[in-house]
Amino acid sequence: MTGAPIERLFPAPGPVLDPSAAGDAQLLEWYSAPAGVDPGTPWVSFNFVASLDGAATVDGRSGGLGNAADQRIFSLLRRHADVVLVGAQTIRAEGYAGELLNAAGQQWRRENGKSAHPAVAVVSGSLDLDPAGEFFTLAPVRPIIITTASAPAARRAALSAVADVVDAGDADLDINAVVAVLAERGLLRIHSEGGPHVLGSFTAAGRVDELCLTLSPALAGAGAGRITAGPAAADLASMELAHVLRSGSMLFLRYLRSKR
Ligand SMILES: NC(=O)c1ccc[n+]([C@@H]2O[C@H](COP(=O)([O-])OP(=O)(O)OC[C@H]3O[C@@H](n4cnc5c(N)ncnc54)[C@H](OP(=O)(O)O)[C@@H]3O)[C@@H](O)[C@H]2O)c1
Repeated sequence: MTGAPIERLFPAPGPVLDPSAAGDAQLLEWYSAPAGVDPGTPWVSFNFVASLDGAATVDGRSGGLGNAADQRIFSLLRRHADVVLVGAQTIRAEGYAGELLNAAGQQWRRENGKSAHPAVAVVSGSLDLDPAGEFFTLAPVRPIIITTASAPAARRAALSAVADVVDAGDADLDINAVVAVLAERGLLRIHSEGGPHVLGSFTAAGRVDELCLTLSPALAGAGAGRITAGPAAADLASMELAHVLRSGSMLFLRYLRSKR
């Protein structure tokens, strides 16, 4: 394995974790389901990286903000997921072709009573996704596409050959219905990797239980958007700090929704 060590700063200074299976096991424990969360109810987490001045992308993609330590956390978070949820624009921008987990990740999931691969779900209103694209042809599990009843019928038919296309709402996507559609399939630990419009939609619906935010030590300048986008949320959703990890000058912040 490669990459810089990661250490915990809060709640208690912890060990310095070199890139190793033992270090990964500790990180997985720090990111496990919070105490008191009912394992029978849905839990929605998000993972984002942002620059110090709030940019979510550099040249249209998030990769320029990350490093090997960020990639390590990003990959480990997928291990806990029943389903990785992504917005259609992130699929179009970043690709997402092939397996989401390496062999070690797949083995860890099997050893922990999970399927080797998490399910993958994409939210899309337009269904503007290429059924012949590598996201579908290389997918280790049949993707789920969550859309609305008013989505274009021809695209729905084409995508139904390569994915399960399900509705969550009539004209507009209903975020509570998105969560319910996944929960009906037994996919309760919903882990989203964005993008900003998906986070904005879930924030507006009050359905963000956890935000894992990598703070990248860089100033991106004006131009790029934030990690959230779309219509404004009616209420401020307060979050509580669960932990702070550090690798060099990069911080990994885990926030949980404040108890209501
Ligand atoms: N910094 C980070 O950690 C991070 C993480 C992920 C992505 N990104 C970057 O963010 C950019 C993409 O983000 P984005 O915000 O433009 O797109 P996005 O959130 O990935 O996807 C937006 C798309 O998802 C569908 N969607 C989301 N919410 C919806 C709703 N409420 N109703 C109906 N459809 C909905 C729509 O698909 P249709 O258009 O198909 O209708 C919409 O265009 C890329 O540049 C990517 O690299 C950064």
